[in-house]
Amino acid sequence: MSVLVVGSLNEDVLVTVDRLPGRGETVIGSAVTVAPGGKGANQAAAAGRLGGGVAMIGRVGDDPAGDRQRAALADAGVHVGLVRSTPGELTGTATIPVEAEGGENLIVVVPGANAALLPVDVDVAELRQATVVLLQLETPLETVLAAAGAAAGIVVLNPAPPQPLPADLLALVDVLVPNEHELRRLTGADHGDRDPAALVELARGLGAGSVVVTLGARGALVVPVEGDAVLQAPPSVQAVDTTGAGDCFCGALAQALAREEPLAGAVRYAVAAAAASTTGAGARGALPDHAAVTVLLPSVPPAVPVT
Ligand code: RIB
Repeated sequence: MSVLVVGSLNEDVLVTVDRLPGRGETVIGSAVTVAPGGKGANQAAAAGRLGGGVAMIGRVGDDPAGDRQRAALADAGVHVGLVRSTPGELTGTATIPVEAEGGENLIVVVPGANAALLPVDVDVAELRQATVVLLQLETPLETVLAAAGAAAGIVVLNPAPPQPLPADLLALVDVLVPNEHELRRLTGADHGDRDPAALVELARGLGAGSVVVTLGARGALVVPVEGDAVLQAPPSVQAVDTTGAGDCFCGALAQALAREEPLAGAVRYAVAAAAASTTGAGARGALPDHAAVTVLLPSVPPAVPVT
């Protein structure tokens, strides 16, 4: 396998709202859509659309939603033989209000069967032989740790949703991909605004390998183990829904790393893919294929050094 994803599969309930509700507030939505989701499955689907040799390890419930998640992944070209049904559990769900203009969202996940993904599930030859193993934090931490420990290829961890990470896990990670919020949570930093140089300093203090900080519409910050950090801006697109853009970024990054692209080139490819993914509704509404990303690449600005 080129890319092996270990992670979550959810059924997403997307609700269109004029603006996101505040704490304790009720707002009226205008539309509801049910779509395949889950950070792990979204990342696998993104990688699958962009190239071959992608497989996923995960757990769904013994229910129709589980069948739908497996079918959606297979439709994206992902091998789903290691996505198992879990008797007595429901497939994970996510409720996601999305603003009609600009596509900002917030997400509440009920893990269901994702919580039953155990270290024994990742004790398979496919994981040991994968070129890139792509992980997130919507499944038990002990399973993430077992997968990182068993991997012989490049280990990429998207620490979402964030939680304190043990040093032994960080030591196994080759490329950590937090967003700005996750980087703050992992480092215990406050919520103040930070310029790219300050974010680089936070990233360097993590004790992981290379760090790529995703910054939404501002692109991504590449902080390599050795050498200078750079800020990679994305191409300009008309965003409709940003749900899952970070997942598309991770899937595309994994595909490019599996092709042996250097980290900066892989990030350039990933910002183009993620930008394209925001032009349709839902986490997988506009996942690009390799040809579509190739068309966008010339409009990706050059990366600039961060000093
Ligand atoms: O990153 C977006 C994803 O987060 C959604 O698809 C939802 O299922 C949650 O896992």
